[in-house]
Amino acid sequence: MRVVSTVAAFSAALEAARQGSPTVGLVPTMGALHDGHRSLVSRAVAECDVVAVTIFVNPLQFSEPDDLARYPRTPRRDLQACRDAGADIVFAPTVAEMYPDWPGPTATTVHVAALGEHWEGAVRPGHFDGVATVVAKLFAMAGRCRAYFGEKDFQQLAVVRRMVADLSFPVEVVGCPTVRDADGLALSSRNARLTADQRAAATVLWRALVAGREAVESGQGSVATVQAAMAAVVGAEAHADLDYAAVVDARDLTAVGRLDEAPLRLLVAARFGAVRLIDNCAAECRDRSGPRPGALTGSART
Ligand code: PAJ
Repeated sequence: MRVVSTVAAFSAALEAARQGSPTVGLVPTMGALHDGHRSLVSRAVAECDVVAVTIFVNPLQFSEPDDLARYPRTPRRDLQACRDAGADIVFAPTVAEMYPDWPGPTATTVHVAALGEHWEGAVRPGHFDGVATVVAKLFAMAGRCRAYFGEKDFQQLAVVRRMVADLSFPVEVVGCPTVRDADGLALSSRNARLTADQRAAATVLWRALVAGREAVESGQGSVATVQAAMAAVVGAEAHADLDYAAVVDARDLTAVGRLDEAPLRLLVAARFGAVRLIDNCAAECRDRSGPRPGALTGSART
């Protein structure tokens, strides 16, 4: 496995790897790798000839300096995890390498309108501009590739897909199912910051999604009753403060008026003390017939 830290070396490594036209797989991460990240790398290794993992804690996507400072960094373990998963190249640049003007503003950024402005975009202004900008840079360096992203961050996946379509990047975006602990909590590097009580409480996100999905599948309720069912589950948990519990159109994350009018995604976000967690799952109304063109994912329940 080759580890590179400059843009020039990364681009050159992928350019060389593409000779003879093998498929290049790209897995962008911010490090502190866990089994969720590993599942992306393993899938890329299974589906591509050459796999590059990027490890960069992107300051542009953090609105709170504290959040950035507290972000876990485990570089040695990350390299071992990449090696174990079969990655060929790791790109681990410094902030100065990615943003020469930092901490000054970057003149050019990527803004995905509407899709990047609600839900997480509303709670964390500028977050998706930071994500879209760094992912655009990584795509520009990587060139033609398949890029692997987790459904865990469903809005991020939608933003990246939209950016790729709008800016014509030669990239095929692959969405991968969420990896969970046995009790349903989605793996996240933020989970390590939960106290024991908060960790126990955090399963409420998955419980709320299951309740919401059951309410959708019962075919009895409305958007309002499903959202209320999810909110009630979170509301019953003393250590959790609900940010939002929503039923949205899975394609563009806009609100839906009826449960049978679109492929659905259930979204939930809550705070456990200072730690904010998000989760989501697919849900399908039994009354909804016919194919689901344009859905971001198939019918897999994640
Ligand atoms: P990070 O949080 O490190 O996540 C890297 C990738 O791993 C993302 O595509 C994310 O959705 C996926 N992932 C995280 N937890 C997962 C889980 N439990 N199951 C499956 N996949 C999971 O997301 C980012 O970094 C950054 O925003 C990035 C895209 C790298 C841009 O800086």
